[in-house]
Amino acid sequence: MFIGNASDIPSSEITSRDTYRLYLNRRKFLRAAAAAGGAMLGGDRLAELFDPRAVAHADTKLQTVSSPLTTTGEQLTSYADITHYNNFYEFGVDKGDPAKNAGGLPTRPWTIKVEGKVAKPLTFDIDDLLKLRPLEDRVYRFRCVEAWSMVIPWVGYSLSEFIKQCNPLSTAKFVQFLSYYDRHVEKWSGESTIYWPYSEGLRMDEAMNPLTLLTFGLYGEVLPNQDGAPVRVIIPWKYGFKSAKSIVTVRFVDKMPATTWNDMAPNEYGFYSNVNPNVDHPRWSQKTERRIGLPFYEQRRTTLMFNGYGDQVASLYAGMNLKKYY
Ligand code: MTE
Repeated sequence: MFIGNASDIPSSEITSRDTYRLYLNRRKFLRAAAAAGGAMLGGDRLAELFDPRAVAHADTKLQTVSSPLTTTGEQLTSYADITHYNNFYEFGVDKGDPAKNAGGLPTRPWTIKVEGKVAKPLTFDIDDLLKLRPLEDRVYRFRCVEAWSMVIPWVGYSLSEFIKQCNPLSTAKFVQFLSYYDRHVEKWSGESTIYWPYSEGLRMDEAMNPLTLLTFGLYGEVLPNQDGAPVRVIIPWKYGFKSAKSIVTVRFVDKMPATTWNDMAPNEYGFYSNVNPNVDHPRWSQKTERRIGLPFYEQRRTTLMFNGYGDQVASLYAGMNLKKYY
């Protein structure tokens, strides 16, 4: 059942937990085999035995370490669901569109430009960023403002590590992220009324919080294009739309930057957009959510304040009226 190409296996059988455990076991095994002076079987053969997806994805693996900031005790959403139920409006408005249409996103060469309130403007190459810090496996709950959720094993390191390299000035109060935009590549971007490029932003202290992840992969592999390759941010206590994908510019600014959804509908999407079951969206409740991929009768669950990360982040908002600053 676990031998063969990924394409032979119905997605329902790629049960997230099992696959990921197998993947981690395989890594441990490969390391042990290497330490023992060379594997008896070739790497690919071993990969086949331990992880059905390893064959199809052999060149996309990332070397990772475990992280104390990982979320435990949650069943992971399957790779199939994480990569086929997406919001990436540059590639179409339906959840299945990004998986179908994002193949042409040119993820190499790729640079991130750093500008604005910094000691001097800089450009980072993605392959240097991948080596800047050890890449960590970090499982986070992911809560979309549309009241569905997933649990995703991301790969990356704290954004703060990157920000330190950027030397922001003390006048930098916010950081803005701009996504790649080319209407010839992202031909579907006209389907929505968004002003491109996609823009998101964080207050500096939010960006420096260790939970904010500069994200290069998921399930131990590079990000698939539809999930924001080659680099995005993940802010696990905020609604998913804060997590800009396929970032090409990081801009340090002194004023709250314009952000895509806040621009489009300020009464529906605030700048902060912390997950908050006590502040409903004008058109639907945020008290509960539907966990994607679970059996129908297990999907509905209570939404947690700050998506369950309050211990780490509530102090960032001490004294703020979160009904006003939604
Ligand atoms: N980034 C860009 N560039 N374009 C987008 O349309 N959608 C946002 C966010 N980042 C979006 C984006 C929204 S609405 C969500 S919920 C998440 O990405 C979805 O991420 P996922 O598809 O990896 O689950």
